[in-house]
Amino acid sequence: MRIVLGIESSCDETAAALVTEDRRILAQAIASQDDSHAPYGGVVPEIAARAHAERLTPLIGRVLDDAGLSLDDCSAIAATAGPGLIGGVMVGLVTAKALAMASDRPLLAINHLEGHALSPRLADADLQFPYALLLVSGGHCQVLRVDGVGRYRRLATTIDDALGEAFDKTAKILGLGFPGGPAVERLAAEGDAKAVPLPRPLFGSEEPHFSFAGLKSAVLRAHESGKYRAADIAASFQQAAIDCILDRTTRALSAMGEVTALVVAGGVAANRSVRAALEHLAASHGVRFVAPPPALCTDNAAMIAWAGLEWLEKGRPGDALDVAARPRWP
Ligand code: KG4
Ligand code: ZN
Repeated sequence: MRIVLGIESSCDETAAALVTEDRRILAQAIASQDDSHAPYGGVVPEIAARAHAERLTPLIGRVLDDAGLSLDDCSAIAATAGPGLIGGVMVGLVTAKALAMASDRPLLAINHLEGHALSPRLADADLQFPYALLLVSGGHCQVLRVDGVGRYRRLATTIDDALGEAFDKTAKILGLGFPGGPAVERLAAEGDAKAVPLPRPLFGSEEPHFSFAGLKSAVLRAHESGKYRAADIAASFQQAAIDCILDRTTRALSAMGEVTALVVAGGVAANRSVRAALEHLAASHGVRFVAPPPALCTDNAAMIAWAGLEWLEKGRPGDALDVAARPRWP
C-alpha cells in the first residue's frame, strides 16, 4: 500500500498530509496565516514565506506522529513546486528535497493546479476521466477538460481577475476583512440578489473567457453611491458572479465533447451557492456533478499527496533534486 507525504506552501496555508493509494487521509495539518495577513487585506509574500519556514517542519513532524509513521513508511514525498508565491513554494520544495534525500525516497514536484484538478478523485473513487473541471481559486478561474493524469486541455481562463480575487476585493470594499470569500457568502445570505444592478462581463460572448474586473469596479461604485445595503451588494455580486460562471461553463461544455462529469474545485468551490448553481447546470446537461468537500477545495496538502499518488500509479520516477520552484506554471 503506497503512502505519500504531501506538502503545500504556495500561498498562505502551510500544510502537510499523509494519504494512501486507497484514498485514506491518514493525517493532515493546516496552519492558516489569515491573522498575519488580515491587517494588509491580502497575502503579503514575504510574511507568508517566513511563516512557512517557521511552521512547515514541525507540522510535518506532527502529521507523521499523528499517523504513527516515519518517512521510511512513505513511497514518495510530493510538494507543490508552483505556481504560487515563489518564497513560499521554495520553502516547501526545499524541505521536500531535504526529506527525500535524507530518507532516500523519490521527490515529486507537483503543480498546485494539478492538485486542485485531481482532488475530486481523492474524494470520489467513481470519478472517471474525461471530466470537465471548473477551477475557481484565488489565483485562477479556468475551465479544463481533464483527459487523464497530466493531460489537461484549457478551454477558458480569466482575462483579468480570478473569481476568488473578485470575492476578496468585494469583501475589502465592503469592509468584511480577509479572507473575503466566506465573509461575502455569509453576508450575501442576508441580502437581496436583485437589489443592486451589476454587470455580467462577457456574458453571452462568442469568446470563451471569463472577466471579473468590471464587476469588481461596479461593486465599488455601488458601495460609494451610498444607496445600497452591504448585504444587498454582497448578494447581488455573488449572483452576478454565478451567472457569469454558469454562462461561461455552459459554453465550454458545449465545446469540449463528451465528459463523464462536471467537477468544481479550488477555494471558491467551497461556496454553497456556487455549488448549488453548478449542480443544477450539470443536471440540465445530463452529467454527474462532483464537488470535493469544502476542506479539500481550499488549499491543502492532501490534494498534493493525492496528485503524487496518481503520478506514481502512472509510473512516474522521482524528479531530479535540482528541480526548480516555478512562480508561473500553466
Ligand atoms: O484554492 P484556494 O484556497 O487558494 C488558491 O490557490 O488561490 O482559494 C482561495 C480563494 C480565496 O480567494 C477565497 O476568498 C476563496 O477561495 N473562497 C471563497 C470561499 N471560500 C474560499 N470564495 C467564495 N465563497 C467561499 N465560501
Ligand atoms: Zn489553490
